[in-house]
Amino acid sequence: MRTRSCLSAVPVLYSLCIACSAPAPQAQTDPEKSVAGFPSTWRFEAGAAPVTADSGMVVSTDSFATAAGLEILKAGGNAVDAVIATSFALAVVNPAAGNIGGGGFLVGRMADDTRFALDYREVAPRGATAEMYVDEKGRVTTEGLVGHLAVGVPGTVAGLEAAYERYGALPWARLVEPAIRLARDGFEVADRHHASIHYKRELLGRFPASAAVFLPGGEAPAVGSTLKQPDLARTLQAIADGGAAAFYEGWIADSLAAEMRRGGGLISTADLAAYDAVWRDPVQAVYRGYEIISMPPASSGGTTLTQMLNIVEGFDLGAAGWHSAEAIHLAVEAMRRAYADRNYYLGDTDFVDVPLARLTSKAYADSLRRSIDPTRASVSEDFNRVPVESENTTHVSVVDAAGNAVAVTTTLNSGFGSGVVVRGAGFFLNNEMDDFTSKAGIPNMYGLIQGEANAIAPGKRMLSAMTPTIVINPDGRTELVTGTPGGSTIITTIFQIVTNHIDFGLPVQTSVDAPRFHHQHLPDVIRYENGGLPDSVIYKLRSLGHRVSERTGISHRFEAGSLPDSVIVALRRMGYGVSGRACLTLNLDLRDSVMAALTALGHVVERSGCLSGNVESIYIAPDGTRVGAADPRRGSKAMGY
Ligand code: DON
Repeated sequence: MRTRSCLSAVPVLYSLCIACSAPAPQAQTDPEKSVAGFPSTWRFEAGAAPVTADSGMVVSTDSFATAAGLEILKAGGNAVDAVIATSFALAVVNPAAGNIGGGGFLVGRMADDTRFALDYREVAPRGATAEMYVDEKGRVTTEGLVGHLAVGVPGTVAGLEAAYERYGALPWARLVEPAIRLARDGFEVADRHHASIHYKRELLGRFPASAAVFLPGGEAPAVGSTLKQPDLARTLQAIADGGAAAFYEGWIADSLAAEMRRGGGLISTADLAAYDAVWRDPVQAVYRGYEIISMPPASSGGTTLTQMLNIVEGFDLGAAGWHSAEAIHLAVEAMRRAYADRNYYLGDTDFVDVPLARLTSKAYADSLRRSIDPTRASVSEDFNRVPVESENTTHVSVVDAAGNAVAVTTTLNSGFGSGVVVRGAGFFLNNEMDDFTSKAGIPNMYGLIQGEANAIAPGKRMLSAMTPTIVINPDGRTELVTGTPGGSTIITTIFQIVTNHIDFGLPVQTSVDAPRFHHQHLPDVIRYENGGLPDSVIYKLRSLGHRVSERTGISHRFEAGSLPDSVIVALRRMGYGVSGRACLTLNLDLRDSVMAALTALGHVVERSGCLSGNVESIYIAPDGTRVGAADPRRGSKAMGY
């Protein structure tokens, strides 16, 4: 079904490798015109219509939150104002990921060409130690994932205020207003709200303050009911009145510290008072004449994205064809190398030396590219762990009437973070501590095997993959604003969004809707979205030596330590991926009858991980039209005016 068919692999790959100069950039295709056919097995049609507008555009994962941002743009707010309002609204209507108890990263380019990156990532509390999640037998515990000890000092409110102080236009309280309204008066529960809470009912049920709001009568709020969050409304009102100081000092901070003491967590009022968001120099790369602005550490996003782009810049991906085996092979080899470096070198640059200039240099990419065999997959260490992601981070892209552009990605880490709501204050706390290296060589929740550079230390930021990104075309015009959730798949997703745009000329909505693939060095496997690659491409990739696995699966949750190593080894021999330490992914497409039989045996069995994250993209056309592309995977929303 692809419109550009792939030719026989070997000769094409050789010619691609010889074409190591950067070809001229392609113009963005007419947004209404599809140039890429999707496989017939893929769930979305190529060529879906985006949302267009003349002045401003907001794209987020939730229609109430998008509407909050649009309300602010229409009231005369700029893109930063709108991102702040949308972020606060997401903390109410998308409590699995939107937050004031987590952290995030913001990248912007203003109409006057000011460029900035703001790091409001959580930090480890002062009482944290490198081995705090390793038990006496040397095993990694689940305490970095669930409950009070998993929580990093939240950064969101400080970050949103820092962004406001530099660039905000409307009064601060006005920006918090839509969120207060949504929390106080409630919002109508849609399928997506119900499903996300239902999926995590076991986690939320463990913590009384969480269950009180989100499991009325022991169940997720019914579709069509109104979900009100009075404690959260009070907290948001205090933030509206008193700014970030009201969160990091005073009754909210006291409530958070009291919550920590109740559940054995570490964060104290001193930790909260000491928290600072940090302005960083964005990572700025040039790819085929386009400038790519993205996030530096404490996120690995911009660095690893740059590395991958620099490597593939030496190949003519466009000539290979979108989703041809050749193009995927080359992209995967770039991903493999960049992730190996990510996991080894990257950490919080306030604590460890990271050779950022070298990692993002063209010369280094040249040397990595030379190690790519065009006829054969390289081999990562053979270690089969399959990461599990779901929709637990969230991204917002905004462009305003003046042309200011802001991309922000924020998270609690996994859905509803630690599961803990601060009693009396009504907001969820993150479980971001799992993004640190709990123990070298042991994978985290996303199957990432990270090194000492990302070891836990008091006050240190845990390494992230979040990649809010802005693409500037060779004429200097902001052309694409984008970002996504998806754990370790975030960076490879944004890599594909960027190359879909620059190399393959896909219209922005088609690019967002298109199936994706992922490789993260270890496990040494290409994972592609359910139904996302035709058999012919999979066959060719396998013949090049790649292991290729479809993201269809069921997840079977079990307590860490409850499965003996012998069982894990046996499951792996049977072809199952055993991932992370709290979740087992059976990477097989089980029939409904098998699922039902497993359920009858008492297993908690859920289909999971078939799709990657919800990308939120805005393309600005040459005539200034804002083209908003919301991701249909889980129902995002673009609105403009
Ligand atoms: O910062 C990170 O890389 C992760 N904590 C992001 C988690 C995430 O994207 C989960 N959602 N799908």
